[in-house]
Amino acid sequence: MIKKWWHDKVAYQIYPKSFYDSNGDGIGDIPGIISKLDYLRDLGVDILWLSPCYRSPLADQGYDISDYYSIDPRFGTMADMERLIAEAKKRDMYILMDLVVNHCSDEHEWFRKACEDPDGKYGRFFYLRDKKEGELPTNWRSYFGGTVWEDLPGTDKQYLHVFHKKQPDLNWENPELREEVYKNINWWLDKGLGGFRIDAIINIKKALPFRSYPTDRDDGLCSIDAMLEEASGIGAFLSELRDRTFKKYDAFSVGEVFHEKPGELPDFIGDNGYFSSMFDFNEAIFGHSEKGWYDASPITPDDYKNCCFAAQEKTGKIGFLSNIIENHDGPRGVSRYIPESDCCDRSKKMLAALNFMLRGIPFIYQGQELGMENLPFSSIDEVDDISSRDEYQVALHAGLSEAEALRAVAAHSRDNARTPMQWSGQANAGFTDGTPWLKVNPNYTSINAAAQIGDEDSVYAFYKKLIALRKNPVYRETVVYGTLEPIWRERHNLMAYYRKGERTLLVVGNFQKDTQEITLPAPYKKVLLNNDKNIVEHDETITLQGYQVLILEM
Ligand code: GLC
Ligand code: CA
Repeated sequence: MIKKWWHDKVAYQIYPKSFYDSNGDGIGDIPGIISKLDYLRDLGVDILWLSPCYRSPLADQGYDISDYYSIDPRFGTMADMERLIAEAKKRDMYILMDLVVNHCSDEHEWFRKACEDPDGKYGRFFYLRDKKEGELPTNWRSYFGGTVWEDLPGTDKQYLHVFHKKQPDLNWENPELREEVYKNINWWLDKGLGGFRIDAIINIKKALPFRSYPTDRDDGLCSIDAMLEEASGIGAFLSELRDRTFKKYDAFSVGEVFHEKPGELPDFIGDNGYFSSMFDFNEAIFGHSEKGWYDASPITPDDYKNCCFAAQEKTGKIGFLSNIIENHDGPRGVSRYIPESDCCDRSKKMLAALNFMLRGIPFIYQGQELGMENLPFSSIDEVDDISSRDEYQVALHAGLSEAEALRAVAAHSRDNARTPMQWSGQANAGFTDGTPWLKVNPNYTSINAAAQIGDEDSVYAFYKKLIALRKNPVYRETVVYGTLEPIWRERHNLMAYYRKGERTLLVVGNFQKDTQEITLPAPYKKVLLNNDKNIVEHDETITLQGYQVLILEM
């Protein structure tokens, strides 16, 4: 494996709208991020990924871009963005922007021009089909519900949108479109960005010619997945993208890749892969049902372990996964992976260590380092996210009561992760002086940064120690490049693995509230991290306390 500058880094995802509001309008912004750079530097993170802050109608919170060359005024100005890049650099940090190029916004100039002249240059930037009365070009269901086809205003055509109707898909088959994309990426890289997180990228390759697939719900539609499974040849687009942009700059790129095909992993993240890394979503998607969120099955600690290990085994030394506990597209990890009655500082730290020590690049989502939890929703009116609103309707349609539908949505809603960052115990969690755009989690009075910084026992302090361990010159090679070998794999509610490199580390977590005994294969040399004050041991046998996690040097 060729060594790269990003391998030993720790990344942090910022959701700008909810991070820190500098001017009291209730919306987080870039000057707000700049004012928190020292907080992030202190935590120890190196790479900051910003969810989109380009000009956008915010129909899908910025994942609908109307101008790739400007910053939305709600988030700041281009000068603010340049200052952020420069201020980050002073602190040896890198900024990643979000690259959203499967689709743009229906308010983008290209789309407007396509409406004016569907047969002209910009019509070919999109997927347009002639409108037929009572018949759709295909029966695909959009990710956010309903058909993927929408009338192209002022014309006799329809356009494709695999996400929201305000997110028309861009036609990657058209070389002119691809040129525009590369030009924009390079324009940003020239500004000194460290790279990009690449949104929804698997969708850029469609199976052509378009056709319908067997319906899978009583809405008469079928999941996009059927078409994506049939699509082949995405590699030609992705290698061109890499060669024309990232590669020339040695930029870091991390793909949001769902369902790559078996055997394709080396193409994606091997040496000279399309991307530097891609997210491991194995745990996040576990239990998802074709029918909708309401039908999802819960994930147990053993499932969690198996998902993590399966991803690790698949990847081996091919490349680097990016490991996450959560992101802006789902519930908080501590609320998803830990039973509600056991969700406490100790179990949060256990989850942190088990995930953070996996082989790959750790990504922390804002507030994860504080142990932020899901929002207790009391009504669907509190939900802003378009996908949650759709899933609520899907649940009602399936016969669930309003209360049951709300419960299903509450467990999965993307708004759980999007509530304002909890900076302090002051009004609005110290996020804004105004009215926050989304409800603040009422638990901010006990879970907040101000209370945790300086408290040696806080979740925040524990994350800081994990980051410091990854950077410690004595252990760095092992934590970054060491192999991962599961141990005691069949043990119930126990997740344990070795990291073996220059040194041998053993990571073991007791994923339950009852104690559990382990007998070490050999005596350990040193305790590198423990979320408890003590270790209860006699000879080589350790009695792990409920949710205790240990990182031992063997
Ligand atoms: C990705 C983003 C998500 C967005 C979607 C459409 O999955 O993470 O937030 O809604 O793409 O851009
Ligand atoms: Ca603001």
